[in-house]
Amino acid sequence: MFYMLLDYYSSVSALYFYFVKPRKSIWSQQLKSIPGGLLFSFEGPDKAGKSTQLRLLAASLRQCGYQVHETREPGGTRLGEELRSLLLQFKQEDISPEAELLLFGASRAQLMRQLILPAMRQGAIVLCDRFIDSTSAYQGEARGLSQEFIEAMHQFTLQGKMPDRSFFLDLDVKRSFARLRQLKPELLDDDRFEAENEAFHQRVREGFLKLAAKQPGRIKTFDASLPKSELAARILQEVRNVIG
Ligand code: TMP
Repeated sequence: MFYMLLDYYSSVSALYFYFVKPRKSIWSQQLKSIPGGLLFSFEGPDKAGKSTQLRLLAASLRQCGYQVHETREPGGTRLGEELRSLLLQFKQEDISPEAELLLFGASRAQLMRQLILPAMRQGAIVLCDRFIDSTSAYQGEARGLSQEFIEAMHQFTLQGKMPDRSFFLDLDVKRSFARLRQLKPELLDDDRFEAENEAFHQRVREGFLKLAAKQPGRIKTFDASLPKSELAARILQEVRNVIG
């Protein structure tokens, strides 16, 4: 009986060491780590295809063996997601532009400390759907709040870090509106930003264009009306240039 049991356990452990353990260690060896990590953000108007491109880039990078974290703003943490609901859906009274700016800042501060910085310390690549440039374009350019204050807020919430590259998917306002109406006409009034008029969205676009002109090294502009796969290939090439 003793020998039967021994035999049984040794076969089970042999199976474990032959199949389970090696696969685990091969898997962990395969994950490539980048010292200090990398942070890429996707920016642009609504319906420019940011989320789709983020997912496509994440899949390509994972296939190459990188550790990838996908997140979004506002959101990405429990607190951030609560703030997101308030920022997009709160209708009981008008949110003042100043309060709106600080709520976006609060969501970012939480995301940075809780997710982005620890992931980067582990050598991961973080992909964020919207980030600081949305604040500069929406709250700065379109709402008219102080860009200097917003810059200082970026320094504070990012703890001195900056995205390694930001991919601005540019789409003219008429197309963005047409895509919005086509995709979810019934939800248009549901989102405080999507419900804004064309002039507001025009200012947002101008905000992004100004930022891209001022910081061409970090912000890379892409024509969002390009076919999805072509856009994905161009973004991947840009990332490859950074990774080296
Ligand atoms: P989205 O995630 O579906 O794009 O919705 C987020 C909305 O929030 C979008 O309309 C842009 C807006 N926004 C700002 O106004 N400022 C910001 O800093 C961020 C991150 C988003």
